Amino acid sequence: MKKFLKENFLKIYGYDNDIKYFFSPGRVNIIGEYTDFNGGYVMPAAINLGIYAAVSFNRNNCVKVFSENEKSSSGILLNENFVKSSSKKWINYILGVFENMKDKYTIPGMDIYIYGTLPESSGLSSSAALEVLIAYIIGFYNKKTDRTEIALIGQAAENNFVGVNCGIMDQFAVANGKADKTLILNCSTLDFSYNDFKLDEYCLIIINSGKKRQLSDSKYNERKSECDKALEIINKSSGEDKNFLCEYSTEYTKYISDNILYKRAFHVISENSRVKDAALCLKNKDFKEFGKILYESHNSLRDNFEVTGFELDTLVSLSSSHKGCIGARMTGAGFGGCSLAVVKNSDYEDFINYINKNYTDLTGLKADFFKVEISDGVKFI
Ligand code: GLA
Repeated sequence: MKKFLKENFLKIYGYDNDIKYFFSPGRVNIIGEYTDFNGGYVMPAAINLGIYAAVSFNRNNCVKVFSENEKSSSGILLNENFVKSSSKKWINYILGVFENMKDKYTIPGMDIYIYGTLPESSGLSSSAALEVLIAYIIGFYNKKTDRTEIALIGQAAENNFVGVNCGIMDQFAVANGKADKTLILNCSTLDFSYNDFKLDEYCLIIINSGKKRQLSDSKYNERKSECDKALEIINKSSGEDKNFLCEYSTEYTKYISDNILYKRAFHVISENSRVKDAALCLKNKDFKEFGKILYESHNSLRDNFEVTGFELDTLVSLSSSHKGCIGARMTGAGFGGCSLAVVKNSDYEDFINYINKNYTDLTGLKADFFKVEISDGVKFI
């Protein structure tokens, strides 16, 4: 990969000395959907698909970036204000990071070549991967690479600059991931631990529905404000004053009379318990029960949180009808993107052929399959 990056860097910038290489992974969320900004638990992991960068620092007052996937380049002047671009959306993730680092870090002049292996708009967090990649490169230059701080900078870029009110899960997983481990992150305290992710006779398959998703265009922010309203109602009616929905038990949803807000809160609070239950099942190697919890999560995201949609529901219901599959759910923010399935190793080929054919018959779309490795977080390579 380094050879490929070096050759392309040379083609774009006309020199290839003193280049540094970095990799920032995408993430898959095993379980814990929409619990992050509600102060709950999540169980994500970094994957071996992600974004590579070849970088050469210089003393100019300018950052040049070329994106291989976008086949597009951009120049950023460091002595001017960083202004959001409406024509090149990808550059906003980089500008947002600069904006959130400029007061505490030196942003050096540099030439950057970027190449990503994540499928486009698939909900595997290419935006978090890019934010964390850029924050890590600047941190590397400044010799300050606190991973949690880098994750928070990435989230701030997304919240204040890009305009999506996302939680901390994606950036945290991209920054702190570890090979073969899932993270269990408490999103209200940022305390976390690593758990083994060994499925023995089963494997994890990620399936891209081919229905593209765009976080900013989706109803993501609407869901966030529905959760905020639900919390406000519970706080007022119960006389308690908590900071997050996940500090309450499902019992408290009785205070919400609005049916939509009730369903949103019920999903969030029950999903939070499912993360803890799923972690226990993995620890005890009770994979069948783990699989059941994945299905429950999907059903709640479909019926209560309403973020799945026809394509993801079709993938999960097809998955569940295959004998080798013991659990499946959508992963990430939903509204298109990917699902995941836990399938017997010996049924892998048969499962893929089965889903492939039936999914296209039912939706007219082509599904893509990834047997991903759970990998380390952002790193110098
Ligand atoms: C997106 C956001 C995350 C999280 C998930 C849903 O991936 O970036 O913060 O809210 O959706 O669980």
